[in-house]
Amino acid sequence: MQELEKLKQELKKLNAEATKIREVAVEKRAKFGRKLNAQKQEILARITEAEKRALDVEVLPLDVTAWSGVNEPMPELYTTLQGSKHPLMMELDRVTEIYQLMGFEVEESRQLDDEFHMFDSLNFAKDHPARDGYDTFRTEEGLIPPAHTSTMQHRVLKKYKKCLDEGGQIAVVVPGRVYRNEDVDATHEHTFYQCEGVYVSKECNMGQMLGILKEFFEKYYGQKLNIRTQPGYFPFTEPSLEFMIEKPKSLGGKKGDFLEMLGCGMIHPNVLRMAGIDPSEYHGFAWGGGIDRLVMLRYGLSDVRHFESGNLNFLREFGQ
Ligand code: DAH
Repeated sequence: MQELEKLKQELKKLNAEATKIREVAVEKRAKFGRKLNAQKQEILARITEAEKRALDVEVLPLDVTAWSGVNEPMPELYTTLQGSKHPLMMELDRVTEIYQLMGFEVEESRQLDDEFHMFDSLNFAKDHPARDGYDTFRTEEGLIPPAHTSTMQHRVLKKYKKCLDEGGQIAVVVPGRVYRNEDVDATHEHTFYQCEGVYVSKECNMGQMLGILKEFFEKYYGQKLNIRTQPGYFPFTEPSLEFMIEKPKSLGGKKGDFLEMLGCGMIHPNVLRMAGIDPSEYHGFAWGGGIDRLVMLRYGLSDVRHFESGNLNFLREFGQ
């Protein structure tokens, strides 16, 4: 900084010197001017350099884990620990990696969406009571923080339609944060994570879908699993199913202890049609389920509220 000040002083002096040009003999003025100008250019270049250097030194990288309670002594925790990935984000990486190894692309969902993607594009009839079942929040502008990752189905179908035109298939998973306006308790959060899956090809069927899902859950929990399905209802799939796994013994389960893990089904022809895909030529299946629940079972957690609590003792148990 001192260097910069000094240079600026020099520049001032030079500028003062330049005003004396009128006192210089006419035949010497050109030479005088050229000399001053050269000096000025050099100082200006040095000032630019010094300013750049000053910026490098002064702009420190932002440490988002830094202690921010300026009026309180810094707890030892902050001086001895670095931040780490949130357990849900760690597990989301695991989830998407399994799907990627199975050949799925990954698309991220959004945090704010609209009525069309939340309902219309998913074959929810106007004024159908199923719309109320999603306990959606709304902004004053009428936008919707998505209540499920299915809001991305229409976009994914449109974006990847070219894969069908080229003779391939659509195989995409969409992890995302979702929001529901419901009372919070040990098993319900207003903010949680889901992962959606979308598959479309000329020939595909429910058996393949169940195979993919079984494979996914077995990879995630690292063991063979018994699965079960029961009929469900979603306007965007026909038929619709609820997919369950038997809680493994190693995770405290007893025989016949089935847990519902996600909703799934064959994509409704209207959903394909709205995205410009001919349902007489192509078929698809889709599924969507909560990540929080998946992770809770893996780690034996009984209260979903831990995830959004910011409780450092909880988070430290997962620190990498
Ligand atoms: N979006 C549904 C929910 O949050 C879950 C779901 C059901 C997703 C069926 C799907 C599906 O893709 O095909 O309740």
